[in-house]
Formats: sequence, C-alpha cells, structure tokens
Amino acid sequence: PIVVLDFGSQYTQLIARKLRESGVYTEVVPYREDLEAIKARKPKGIILSGGPASVYAEDAYHPDEGIWDLGLPILGICYGMQLIAQHFGGEVVPADHHEYGKARLHITKPDSPIFKDVPDNSIVWMSHGDRVEKLPEGFETIAVSDNSPHAAIADENRQIYAFQFHPEVHHSVEGVKMLKNFAKYICGAESTWNMGSFAKEKIEEIRKQVGDKKVLCGVSGGVDSSVVAALLHEAIGDQLIAVFVDTGLLRKNEAQQVQDMFKQLGIDLITVDASEKFLSRLKGVTDPERKRKIIGETFIEVFDEEAKKHADEVSFLAQGTLYTDVIESVSVKGPSKTIKSHHNVGGLPEWMTFELVEPLREIFKDEVRKLGLELGLPKHMIGRHPFPGPGLAIRVMGEVNEEALRLLRDSDEIMQEELRASGYYDKVWQAFTVLLNVSSVGVMGDNRTYDNTVCVRMVESVDGMTATFAYVPHDILENISRRIINEIDGINRVVYDISSKPPATIEWE
Ligand code: XMP
Repeated sequence: PIVVLDFGSQYTQLIARKLRESGVYTEVVPYREDLEAIKARKPKGIILSGGPASVYAEDAYHPDEGIWDLGLPILGICYGMQLIAQHFGGEVVPADHHEYGKARLHITKPDSPIFKDVPDNSIVWMSHGDRVEKLPEGFETIAVSDNSPHAAIADENRQIYAFQFHPEVHHSVEGVKMLKNFAKYICGAESTWNMGSFAKEKIEEIRKQVGDKKVLCGVSGGVDSSVVAALLHEAIGDQLIAVFVDTGLLRKNEAQQVQDMFKQLGIDLITVDASEKFLSRLKGVTDPERKRKIIGETFIEVFDEEAKKHADEVSFLAQGTLYTDVIESVSVKGPSKTIKSHHNVGGLPEWMTFELVEPLREIFKDEVRKLGLELGLPKHMIGRHPFPGPGLAIRVMGEVNEEALRLLRDSDEIMQEELRASGYYDKVWQAFTVLLNVSSVGVMGDNRTYDNTVCVRMVESVDGMTATFAYVPHDILENISRRIINEIDGINRVVYDISSKPPATIEWE
C-alpha cells in the first residue's frame, strides 16, 4: 500500500479515500506509528499529511526518524512539506499572512512525473500558516503560485516531493491526478484495488490470525458490527459466535429485523433478551449521564454473562473499530473533554483478555458500507442512519418506561416511513423523534386535550462531529406531524428542532 502518516489535518482521510477510489490501496496510520509497524505494512511510498501545528512548536508532531532512511518515495503535504524541509536542512518560517483558499499553480518543471498530464495554471487549495523559506540541499522548486514561491518542491533523485497546497481536497482541480501520479509513476504502486480485493485480503488475514479458534462478536444491528460479522462468517464460518443483546431500547421491530437479517446471511445469532433488566434499572432515572452509565454497565454485564458461557472455546473478540475510532482514541492532544460518555467505548471486563480482531481498522464509514454491499448485506441495512448505543433511552426526556417507549417507537416509525416515501431518507444524515416531557393543551373535535409533545430531529452531517438541521420540505414535515398526531394516542403536538451542532448536539441527551 501507500501509507499515509496522519498529522491531524482534517483532510487526511481524503488522501486515502481519493487514492483508494483510483484503485491504489492506501492505509492511514497515526503519525507516531513506529518504524517496525510501518515496515510491516510493506509500503511502496509514504505520504505525510497536513496538520494544524507548526513544525517549530514545542509539542510539534514528528514521525519516527527511521522513515527518512527507508529509501521509499515520500510526498509531504502542507505540514508534511514543512517536516521535509526541516528534516533536510531547509528553513521554515511563519508566513506574513496566512494563505487560505484558491491559488493558481504555475508548474515550473513540467516534465516532473508528478505533473504528468496536469495542465499548467490549474486551481489548487491552500491552507497554511508556515511556509518554506529556504530549500534544503538537493531540492528544487517545481511549481509556484502568486503567494508561494515554493508551492511544490522535489528532490527527484531521492524521490521526495512536497506540496504547500492540499491536492486531496475537492477544490484542487487536478489534485487527485497528482496523487495518482505519485502512486503510479514514483512509487510504482498498482491501481487494481477495489472493495472486492479488500474483502478477499481481509478474509485471508482473519483466517491466518484465527486459525481454528473461535471468535466472539457482539452485534448491534448497526452497519459496522454487521459487516464485521459477515466478514468473519465468510472467513471462518461456524467458528464465529455472534451475540446480539436486545436492550429493549431499540426501534420498533428492530430486534426482529436484526435476527431476520442474520438468518438470511446464514449466521447463527445468539439473541439475549435483556429488555426487562434494562428497563427495571432505568426506573425512576432521569439524569442523562446516569442513564448512559446504567445502560453501558448493564450492557457489559449481559454481554459478559453470555461470553462466559463460551469462555472455554473462545480466543478472539471481534470489533467494528473504524479508522475514525482509532484516531480518536489515540487523539494527539489526549482524550478530548467528555461531552457525553459514549456507550461503545466502555471498558470490557478484565477477564476478557481476548486478542482482538478488528478488520475495519483502516477504513472509513462509507467504505464499510461498500464492503457490506460486497458481502451481500441488504441495501436498506447498509444505508441505515446511525443509531446510538444507548438507543431510545436518550431520546426519552425524563424517565424511560414502556409508555414513553411506545410513543417514541410509533412516532419514529411514522417519521421513517414518510422520509422513505418522499426519498428524503438518504438525503439526511440522521433523523429521529424525541419524546419531550412537556405536555401542552390541544383541541381534538370538541374536546380539550392535554398531551405529550414529540420533537422531530433531522440533521445533515458528514461524520456526526458537526451537523446542521436539515432543510426538509414543509410538506414532508406536515405529513409527519399530521400522521403522528392523528395515529398516536397521547401526542397532540409535533415540533421541529432547528438547532445545529455545535452548540447543540445531535441527540438530546
Ligand atoms: P451527539 O449527540 O453527540 O451525537 O451530537 C453524534 C452522533 O453519535 C451518536 N451517538 C452515539 N453513538 N453510542 C453510539 O454508538 C453513543 O453513546 C452515542 N451517543 C450519540 C448520535 O446518534 C449521533 O449520530
């Protein structure tokens, strides 16, 4: 593969995605990955990503020094360029003014392989504070822009290239071509990769790792854990022990749907119905963090109990960890402040010292979806909106009980039906209803009512980190509102949440 060292730029994932989309297998790893681990990946070339820091900052991020002596082609982007300049003895200075936005790239060395078939004066996207002032020995400038006398530099003998701009972002018109050129002409990487070959590789890897041992895999019905289970099933068949905990906090008919899907895939699923346990522990609890804590602990307890039954046979635990989780848990500045305690990153009991199988560690959510399709998971499950681990409990304001869950499930079902019917389900990132503990006065027929309020929440987002409320046509909202109020006994008012994240969050608790 091409290995991308991630120095924390918000665009790093785009480098990998663009290259993979053009058929070049690319892995992203945290910048501090050690040399042996990098070598074990057998890279054909290394890309150093951008990053928010300055190479001169005291806590600047540096890669394992050994990477410079591997003799591999290197491409540095933005911060990566400054690392290169610094390492090889050039000079990096803070720019007089930060350069953001579009610039025209004038290529001064058109016969460089990195610019093959790239027209002169194409638009590239700049976003940087520092810039290279003096080139290191052996380097030459291969492109300039109005504000950057060294927009691209190279030492073609050592096959080291560096860009001040971001080729990976959409606004850099010829950027993908430059990345591809680096992979193809400079690293000699093949461009035959696709999700099918990824699946095959992973299946082989899993077989090698696991041998004839058994693997325990918790499934939630969500995309990631389902894809992991399907992949494991392909790889090791009945050596997979898949466990599904029904928390009683799922959407309407969801538990059944999960079981049906696994049946279709030919996977034996052990379902543990723990809904009573969850509900009884949530009785009287209204504080959001306590709810989350109780659910997290109860989940571990139930899963643990089931796992113990298989403890003698099982040696591995499979998890649907994605690259985004990897990078968050090794977060460069240490764990960020707890806004909400997330459910699926809770610790496992100590006795569960299984070795982990994490086949999705290198890929991103949209790629997991493609992989799922490749493995034959149904389309509607692949396209499902995210659903939080604590489930409907964090969408009931106040105490969680059967009645509240009924109102929430029924309203959520109507909302989903209307969204799907209008074709908007796939246009919003996430949509759900929230049961507020607010009663209000209404009038139905000649009678006064005093009933519950449901809030409809629909957001647009890329990764859930930030979000804006969705612009959904009013007639869709109208249908949702009318049906909820008419069809569900106990609700007489529907409101739409028009807050964005930040400062609000997507979920209400
Ligand atoms: P917030 O509410 O923090 O949510 O803006 C961001 C995204 O994360 C989901 N979410 C969770 N997912 N376990 C999960 O697996 C959790 O505990 C959890 N809490 C929130 C939320 O649905 C949204 O997609």
